[in-house]
Amino acid sequence: MELKLDPWGAVHVDDYSRLFDEFGISSFADILPRLSHPHPYMRRKIIFGHRNYDSVLHAIERHEPFAVMSGFMPTGRAHFGHMMVMNEIIWHQQQGGDAFAAVADMEAHAVRGISWERCRSYGIDEYLVSLIALGFEPGPKSHIYFQSEDYQVRDLAFELGREANFSEVSAIYGFSGETHISHMESVMVQSADILHPQLEEYGGPKPVVIPVGADQDPHIKLTRDLAYRMRKFLVEPREGYISIRGKAAGQELMQKAEDLLKEEYLGEVKRYEEHIDLIDTQNHVRINDPLPIWRNRNNLIEYRDQIDYVDQLMRNLETEQGGFGFLPPASIYHRFMTGLTGGKMSSSKPESHIALTEDPKEAGKKIMRAITGGRQSLAEQKKLGGEPEKCSIYEFLVFHLSDDDKELLELDAQCRSGQRMCGTCKKDVAERIERFLVEHQRARLAARERLPEFGIIA
Ligand code: TRP
Repeated sequence: MELKLDPWGAVHVDDYSRLFDEFGISSFADILPRLSHPHPYMRRKIIFGHRNYDSVLHAIERHEPFAVMSGFMPTGRAHFGHMMVMNEIIWHQQQGGDAFAAVADMEAHAVRGISWERCRSYGIDEYLVSLIALGFEPGPKSHIYFQSEDYQVRDLAFELGREANFSEVSAIYGFSGETHISHMESVMVQSADILHPQLEEYGGPKPVVIPVGADQDPHIKLTRDLAYRMRKFLVEPREGYISIRGKAAGQELMQKAEDLLKEEYLGEVKRYEEHIDLIDTQNHVRINDPLPIWRNRNNLIEYRDQIDYVDQLMRNLETEQGGFGFLPPASIYHRFMTGLTGGKMSSSKPESHIALTEDPKEAGKKIMRAITGGRQSLAEQKKLGGEPEKCSIYEFLVFHLSDDDKELLELDAQCRSGQRMCGTCKKDVAERIERFLVEHQRARLAARERLPEFGIIA
């Protein structure tokens, strides 16, 4: 297949590349080749960036524990934008991850003033029923919850609050003297959402990926910082040795660390007041000496592996001693869909989006009214061709309504060459969306019956 066009690359990726440099988000394209069966969102560059997703890939590749977690604010109707997060949760569940979905009712109540009753009914009717209809599965490793009802999350939020102060969160979220305390609390609750899959109850520290829109990155960054601040030890590579620094670990814990390392490490263990150095006196690592340098790991040679191994030892020690040992959470970021009226797709603007519970005929009509990449006149369009990269309808196809990459490339080419007109295209997409919604809504009926399997009594 020799096709030069890149219809996905064309859709606004440039607007997002700024995020890479400015905020330290990594490009997803760089790690895409490591996935043998990437989700279409990944393949089509809809998921464009990540933080630390390597940790999750590593776990997937080695069949080690990992989790996926995300949340939904129950402020209104769930639309196709929310569906992306749902699909990303489900995909990671299918890859073997523990799966967590939160209804962010505390956030909706605190920030948007939504009553608890509405939080509950929106949460269930709009979000959870669709999540299940799309393929979220129940089981011991599957967790759906309302923030307000999960006291482990709430307790963790309180604990995290010890590590975050007012100036810092104000700088991130623009809080001022007028900001309500509950709003600030809900920020800690979201961090607790993100970190709680690593609590002992769920099997302890592990890689966790948070699929979100790029606007949620400040939460991720803050939470990664908090995860780090909750640690008792900091393990770092140094020139020729590994440094383990106690972060207010206390003398007792430092002693335990020293004992443990002396037991495990066959090189030199040098203890100082607040840190310990591991010195590879034999240079095992550098000369690729097959002799073990760790008592219980005889094939651990790579320096990078050693750092991870020491970190894991320290993490275990921390959790044994009542600490958390959190790994910094990973995240993946997807592009937003353009609203049907241009601009951002928004829950509060009904014409801009199509809800998952929308009447299918009405949805079709919205498509017929939507902004396309068409030209001023038919003649002009025939001459110049359309601009699919500016078309909200084409975007729907790329994001949701075509499984077939080749078909998309063909549609893209036909549009650009002026063969395919907006009227025809709209009718086609309207039909697809109607079919999709009829099917999804049928699946929702079945999903509703299954709520008790997820511990939800509607
Ligand atoms: N704040 C998110 C939103 O505005 C919702 C949310 C709550 C969330 N907890 C989360 C997202 C945990 C990701 C992870 O939609």
